[in-house]
This record gives sequence, structure tokens and C-alpha cells, in this order.
Amino acid sequence: MSYALSFTATDPARLWTEAADAAAALVAGERDGIANMANVAALIWQAIPDLNWAGFYRFDGTELVLGPFQGKAACIRIPLDKGVCGAAARMRATQRVDDVHAFPGHIACDADSRSELVVPVVAGDRLVGVLDLDSPLPGRFSAADQVGAEALVARIAGALAD
Ligand code: SME
Repeated sequence: MSYALSFTATDPARLWTEAADAAAALVAGERDGIANMANVAALIWQAIPDLNWAGFYRFDGTELVLGPFQGKAACIRIPLDKGVCGAAARMRATQRVDDVHAFPGHIACDADSRSELVVPVVAGDRLVGVLDLDSPLPGRFSAADQVGAEALVARIAGALAD
């Protein structure tokens, strides 16, 4: 496994496919979910442009707890009835928010964030946590970004579990 990753695609669908291929290779053979989250957060941070935060919150059975990420220090605990992350976890459905200021209950960890994409991580029928991507650009995340991020998470969800 080489850790010198490079991403060349310019259109989002291809870029997410490159990222998913790289993520699958990175986690192959490693059973520590936190280590895998750390590498996948770093990979996404490198591959996907215009992010100011990329990482994971882990579900502890009650609420979401900050996991491996890239970006500024962030809020540690998020109840499932709070924020974009809580909504994604509670509904087990991706939240794609073009304008975080218009999302009721959005938690502003980084004041630079303008749009957000949160994908639930489910392994089997167990909620492992969420992948949270923030951008300083309004409307940064397209439907293609959502499909790509969901496909990446679906491919490696098992390797992100404890
Ligand atoms: N904005 C998120 C909180 C997490 S930070 O963006 C890293 C939310 O509303 O759930």
C-alpha cells in the first residue's frame, strides 16, 4: 500500500470514484475503525477541493462524539436532535445543506462553514457515526458529491466500525 496518494479527476463523479478506490485500498486489512477513519478523513481532505472541515463523528449509543478529522478544532458531543450531523444520524439519511445558516439548529463549529454534506455511516444495521464535510462556499456540494460520498462510505463502512 502506497500512502502517496494522487487524485487527477476534475469532475466530481470521477473524483469521488478515485477517492473511494483509494479509501478501499487504505483500509484493506486494517481492523481498527478509528485508524481507518483518520486515514479516510485525511484522504478526503486531500482529494476533495474547497473544504474547511472533513471528518467523522462516532455514535456512542447515545450521541455523536468527535472522531478523526481534518480542519479546525470542533464541538465534541452532538445529541441526535441537534445540528446537521444529528439529523443525518437520527434519520440515517444524508443531509446536503446549501446554506447552513438556513438550517434550523445548525451547529457553527467553524464560522467559515457555509454549506455542509453529512453522510451516515451504517455497518450492517448498526449506526457507526457520520462523515461530515464542511465548505466555506455556499452550495458547494452537488448531487454528484452526495452520490459519490455515499458510495465511498458504503464501500468502507465495515472498516470504520469498532
Ligand atoms: N455543523 C455541524 C457540526 C459539526 S461541525 O461542522 C464540524 C452540525 O450542525 O451538525
